[in-house]
Amino acid sequence: MFDIAENKTISIDDFIKLILDYMNDGYYFLGDHSKRVAAVTGAILDKLGINGKDKELMRYTALLHDIGKLSIPKSILLAPRQLTDKEFELVKDHPLSGYRKLAHIESLKNINPIILYHHYRNGFGYPQKLEDYPVSDNILIDVLTVADSYSAIKEERIYNVWNLEHMDVIKILKNEDDPKNKGINQEIVDILSKINTPGM
Ligand SMILES: [Fe+2]
Ligand SMILES: [Fe+2]
Repeated sequence: MFDIAENKTISIDDFIKLILDYMNDGYYFLGDHSKRVAAVTGAILDKLGINGKDKELMRYTALLHDIGKLSIPKSILLAPRQLTDKEFELVKDHPLSGYRKLAHIESLKNINPIILYHHYRNGFGYPQKLEDYPVSDNILIDVLTVADSYSAIKEERIYNVWNLEHMDVIKILKNEDDPKNKGINQEIVDILSKINTPGM
């Protein structure tokens, strides 16, 4: 008889692989997006001289940063049209939703606050600063935010198409008139601009 009680634990790598596979199957290559964000994050951290435990932590954080999107109905997340305000509020809930879902997993407790604030953009994004949740001016949050924005633009919002030229994406991120760039750490964007084909 099959005995599951023998070994009840699952490795973090197996857990993440499972999540990314489901993201790819059902959510339009969201798993591939997460892998790209992880690769770009790693390239920036290399330039910053951040390695060891912090780099490993950020790899897991980047791979799981959009896990909260699995709570959003596909009809909204993949809608080929402009979202209504109400729908966009649901999408904006994904960092908090991911945070809550992962909160009970002890081994992920250090990555979870970074997931919560990956769209925070130093107060210009979401969610709003919440007293109950930890937030800091953590450079690691800024790195993930830049890597995520860069990847989302380079994918042209259609996952699995890694299309735009590197410097075209950097130009979009440097555009001060674009409200989406408010609060983004431009020093990190400058570092990213000097990296050749990050995430490839
Ligand atoms: Fe996100
Ligand atoms: Fe993302």
